Amino acid sequence: MRHLIDFTDLSEREWQHIYRRFEEIYEHPGDYRDALRGQTLASLFYEPSTRTRLSFEAAMLKLGGGVFGFSDPAASSVSKGETLKDTVIMTSGYANVLTLRHPREGAAMAASLYSSVPVINAGDGGHCHPTQTLTDLVTLRRLRGSVEGLRVCVCGDLKYGRTAHSLLRALARFEGIRAVLVSAPELSLPEYVKRTCGAIKLDEQPDLRTAIGDVDVLYMTRLQRERFRDPAEYERLKGRYTLTPEILSGAPSDLLVMHPLPRAGEISEAVDGDPRAVYFQQARYGMFARMALLLELCSLPPFAVKEAEPQGVHRCDNGSCITKTEPYLPVFEGSACRYCEQQNN
Ligand code: NCD
Repeated sequence: MRHLIDFTDLSEREWQHIYRRFEEIYEHPGDYRDALRGQTLASLFYEPSTRTRLSFEAAMLKLGGGVFGFSDPAASSVSKGETLKDTVIMTSGYANVLTLRHPREGAAMAASLYSSVPVINAGDGGHCHPTQTLTDLVTLRRLRGSVEGLRVCVCGDLKYGRTAHSLLRALARFEGIRAVLVSAPELSLPEYVKRTCGAIKLDEQPDLRTAIGDVDVLYMTRLQRERFRDPAEYERLKGRYTLTPEILSGAPSDLLVMHPLPRAGEISEAVDGDPRAVYFQQARYGMFARMALLLELCSLPPFAVKEAEPQGVHRCDNGSCITKTEPYLPVFEGSACRYCEQQNN
């Protein structure tokens, strides 16, 4: 691993190693107080964030390192029209690792082409969110002992929900996973993600109550209002799935209720006191998981960046792809876009 664009960039050995590190740090955080002293994290957030940005920043500070960056692109030269390429070249010269959140799909992969230090994808549009997945898997392994063989219900916005995409692709690496997908038909899992779900047994189920009758994990997600092309569609679909104590009463007593957060009404506050609700614990594990990841990536030597010759014209059909706003990016051959992974005609 040089960059973390999606969770599958981690080998099985790297994931095991990061998990062990997470456990050590969680048990003995004081032992790591100076582990990254003198190192810096550039935190480039082109989109709103609470947990991801703050847990990365807290993680770096708790390791003795420093943090700089922006949480609002309007306050940086991006507002003067600076390209992603230039911003990444500059900041990777100041930092030992970059975290990037961007509204465009494929932005992290694009940034990795110009960075001399590791790039961590902190969410690229409706595409991927690998450190949320790291958080999710660490939570599952810690609370369930193992990820293998789990039955997971994923509910909500499976179309635009990058957390659901990254989680399902990562689960495909484990044996015996069954996934029940619950969403409005308009928000079902895109084909390009389904294709990467490998041996997962996927089942679609319109009714949440039925779906959680015999699963180990319920992973709720928010409808990604900011990615809907038609606001009326969001208004029509919001509130379709809401987890209430009454619905939860029919679920197994050892179910784990997870959510990447923020929630926007899909889990009622009345569920928070249920011992099965682990979403706040999950968010806390995320900081320790990010500490383990930063330790791994900051130990890599800087790499040389090879500038690709500009050639050809981008032909991606995805209107949210990074190639639409950063046309200088190198063009790759193939029917699927190398940035956003959309299959094109
Ligand atoms: C998620 C995201 O940004 O994709 N939040 C997070 O990072 N924990 C989920 C969301 O915004 O719905």
